[in-house]
Amino acid sequence: MIKGFIFDLDGVITDTAELHYDAWKKLADEMGWEFDREVNEKLRGISRMDSIKVIMDHNGVSLNEDTIVELATKKNDIYVNSLDDMTQEDYLPGARELLTHLRSEGFSVALGSASKNANKVLKQLNAIHFFDVIGDGNSVTNSKPAPDIFLFASEKLGLRPENCIVFEDAEKGIDAAKAGNFHSVGIGPEERVGHADIRFDTMKEATLFAVKSHFKDLF
Ligand code: BG6
Ligand code: MG
Repeated sequence: MIKGFIFDLDGVITDTAELHYDAWKKLADEMGWEFDREVNEKLRGISRMDSIKVIMDHNGVSLNEDTIVELATKKNDIYVNSLDDMTQEDYLPGARELLTHLRSEGFSVALGSASKNANKVLKQLNAIHFFDVIGDGNSVTNSKPAPDIFLFASEKLGLRPENCIVFEDAEKGIDAAKAGNFHSVGIGPEERVGHADIRFDTMKEATLFAVKSHFKDLF
């Protein structure tokens, strides 16, 4: 039976991809690196350090670890500053409604995000109260596609993976959910999250009614 829901943050609850893009683009321009939206798409769901390595690979660049950390920190400062403008109006359509509904129905709810800035994002959205457990980029060492962040979240909720549904917009996020034996809901196009148990184009379609209809034997 389904007792808990675990949500990814970026791309599921709010759309930060463009803010990440702007921050990486600023750093890339400064470094004389090529960076476009196609490369940015590969960063969906993966950690900050994995992200900078993807960008460096794309440019055939290698640097020592200290310099990489310094550059990733520079990007993060730009990104974190841009979060100041985020408000309660910045939920993806349908996300706040679903979280509210899950709360009123008494389900356990956790966050399972790769971001080390999840707390700030949730504060800007005024969303902290929706979550019993917050798992973020500081909670585990191995990032998606490893299942660790979702296992952390389910363990803290006191639930087994098969009693939880994970919501994800990233290919590697669905990989992580499957690796951990969670049920999965993919948000986004077929080519990205078509391997989820069920897929919706956007959070607007992912209502509790639609999710229950798909997993009907589990409710
Ligand atoms: C994920 C995003 O949620 O968090 C990735 O989808 C991002 O694009 C990752 O790289 C890490 O975020 P942060 O905020 O710790 O740099
Ligand atoms: Mg995401």
